[in-house]
Formats: sequence, structure tokens, C-alpha cells
Amino acid sequence: MINIGLLGLGTVGSGVVEILESRKEKISSLIGEEINIKKILVKNVNKKRDIHLNKDIIISNFEEILNDHTISLVVEVTSDIEQSYEYVKLALNNGKSVVTANKALVSKYFEELSALAEEKNVSFLYEASVGGGIPIIKPLKEELILNSVDKVQGILNGTCNYILTRMFNEGLDYDEVLKKAQELGYAEMDPAADVEGPDTLRKLRILGSLALQGKVGEEDIILEGIEKITSFDVRQIKLMKSTVKLIGEVKEYEDGYSALVMPTIVKDGSYFASVNMAFNSVTFEGDNIGELKFYGSGAGKFPTGDAVLRDILDIALDFDRKQNPLGHRILKNNNSEIKDKYYLRISESKENILKSVEDISEKILSTKDNIAILTNEVEIKEIMDIISSLDIEKDEYFIARILD
Ligand code: NDP
Ligand code: HSE
Repeated sequence: MINIGLLGLGTVGSGVVEILESRKEKISSLIGEEINIKKILVKNVNKKRDIHLNKDIIISNFEEILNDHTISLVVEVTSDIEQSYEYVKLALNNGKSVVTANKALVSKYFEELSALAEEKNVSFLYEASVGGGIPIIKPLKEELILNSVDKVQGILNGTCNYILTRMFNEGLDYDEVLKKAQELGYAEMDPAADVEGPDTLRKLRILGSLALQGKVGEEDIILEGIEKITSFDVRQIKLMKSTVKLIGEVKEYEDGYSALVMPTIVKDGSYFASVNMAFNSVTFEGDNIGELKFYGSGAGKFPTGDAVLRDILDIALDFDRKQNPLGHRILKNNNSEIKDKYYLRISESKENILKSVEDISEKILSTKDNIAILTNEVEIKEIMDIISSLDIEKDEYFIARILD
């Protein structure tokens, strides 16, 4: 019997428990033994839970998992970063393998935890941390053996994609759709992590560091979220026969790399425009394989629980090589050289603002109530410097990159 210590019993944790229960016999026949959740660590043991479980296995003291020598695998699906980091480090140091869906944790401590797992000859797997149910980490790691991967691009946040889809397709209001995404279990505990972009940034940091085989740090990624989009922007962008997606992109660029997370205008009918609701898609390009596209459910109880269980099965079947998948390339960040065209809206219509943006404008879309322009091809630094020089609040503008 393989005993698991589960950390967290929220949306993802209960998905893991329920899939394990419903596929019990199939799993046993595949691996030749049973997978048993022996203990479940939660924050509040007294919380009323809508799940059938022996209540005695729900605990609040991690030591009970750490010191249980029959538990060989810790599955971490909490919403906590620092406390979970301590738990994961202790588990790895004690020779227990770890599976996690917690991208904030993976992103913050990626290099350290990957090296520690290799040193202790145990597995550290995190398929569910990027793209919910989509198999992306494992295929990317496998292709890295045969390819140099020089670009990763994707819609990586289900909550943002759900909000944008319903705003563009149904004309719904931002706050109303965000609330719905929270009810559906897509959003993070603090949804600012979704709509302001850090969740996409963390996923991109994980994919980018694997793909380029060198550290792409959180601080190396340009970040703009979708939280400032208004129905005015939706109307303008629909007139361009386009839509907006929050896209993360890391690519080899000039003699280094570029990395950004930005609302991105894509033409109706294009590939990314067809990725809707809480679906995610990731594409990467390898020198042998060419372009690979992955598409599927980016969030939610069962897709994410399924991805966690795939990692658990890989460990149970001893498929994981237990090698640190990260490379040692020292990468030069060339973000300041990225050149693109942008849509820029400023929710004030003042003469001095219009004057400041005129030089970079290819087309002026509006000067009434809001100033909205389409820019020439400009360096991102130039446009951000112009925005900073205007006397406006952070929530008074919306910028989106235009993808050909
Ligand atoms: P929830 O908020 O639904 O559940 C979090 C769980 O973690 C709860 O059971 C909570 O306990 C427990 N918890 C929080 N802090 C601690 C702590 N310090 N010690 C022990 N237990 C703790 O989150 P989700 O299930 O939605 O997400 C879990 C993780 O998976 C997150 O890191 C998230 O980013 C990631 N993820 C989520 C996806 C989704 O679709 N929801 C998709 C992919 C990844 P209690 O029940 O007592 O409050
Ligand atoms: N909050 C995340 C999202 C969960 O909406 O994509 C999946 O990582």
C-alpha cells in the first residue's frame, strides 16, 4: 500500500480524494497496490466539509505526517506559500516525494526545491501547477531531452480567460463575472493574484525556466493584468474584429530572452481567440519538434485533481527519473528591447495627455471622455515611461499588446 499525506482539502484536495475513490480499483490493478490517503492536514479541523471521509484522518499538526514512516508521499494542495514551503522542505529532507499544485510555492522556491529533491533522490512533481488539467510540464520536460525550446506562449489563467470571454461574448460586467469565477472555484483565495497577473507570471516563470534551461525569475517578467479593462475597451477592440486574452510569453530574443505577461489583442478566428472560458492553452517551439500546442481545462476541482493524480501515478510506477530538470544557462534579460504595437486607453481626455501620446500614435480611436490610441511599433519601455510621466492613477489606463 502507498500511503499519502495530503496537505489541503479545498477545491483541489477534494478533487484528488474523489477521483482516487472513484478510480480505486483501476489504480490498484495498474500499480499492483492500493493508494491510500492516510492523513489530511488542513488549517481548520472544525470546518464543515461536504465530503465523505473518516474524520479521524483530518489533522492540524504536520508532524503526524512527517514522522509517519509509512507515508512516502506528500501531496501539497494548500493555498499557503511560506508554511507549505517549510512542510515541503521537511518532507523532501525526510526522503518523502512531493507532488504539488501550488504554483506560487513552486515559482518562489523552484531552484532550491528541485535541487533538494535530486539530492535526496526523491520526486518533486508539479504538473497541476501550470494549466490545471493540461499535461504540459511532463511533455515539456520530455521534449527538452531532444530539443532546444526557444519560445513558450500561453493563456495560463482560467479566471482571467473566463472573465474576458464573458465580457467580450456576452457583454457582461467585469465584477459580475469575477464573482462567478470565484463561485466556480477557479479563482485564487485572493483573486488579485489572477486578475492582476501574478498567477500567470508564476506559471510563466516555471515554464520559461524549464524551456530555456536557465533561471527566468519572477522579477524578470514584465507584468500587466486585466483588472483595468472596461466596457469601453471591449467595444473598441470588438470594432477591430479582435478580442483580448491575458498571454504570457517567454522567448529567446536577440542575444538573450524576453518575458512578459500582458493583455494581448488577438484577431477573431486566430488560435488564441478560440481558447475560451476557463480553458487554457500553451504552445512551445522546439528545434526538432516544431510547434506543439496544448489545450484543456485550466482550473477546477476535477481537471486539477486529475493532474495531481497523474503525478502520483508516475511516482507509484517509478516513471520519474528524479533528476533536477533545471539547466544552468545564465540568461540575459532583453525585455527593454521588446518592440510591439499597443492599444492604450486613458480614462481622461486632457489636451496635455493627448499631446504626450500623439508621437507614438498610429491611429487615434477616441478623444471623447477617454483617450484611446493604437500605437506605432514602440519599445515597451518607451510607452511605460510615457504612461508614468502622465499625471494619472494606476487604474486610469489600460494597455494591451497587439499580436499579429
Ligand atoms: P482552497 O482555498 O480551495 O483550499 C486550500 C486548502 O488548503 C484548504 O483545505 C485549507 O484548509 C488548506 N490550507 C491553507 N493553508 C494551510 C496551512 N497553512 N496548513 C494546512 N492547510 C492549509 O484552494 P484550492 O484547492 O483551490 O487550491 C489549492 C492549491 O492548488 C493552491 O495553491 C492553488 O493555487 C492551486 N491550484 C488551484 C487550482 C484550482 O482550480 N482551484 C488549479 C491549479 C492549482 P481549510 O480547509 O481548513 O481552510
Ligand atoms: N486561479 C487559477 C486560474 C487556478 O484561474 O487559472 C489554476 O491554476
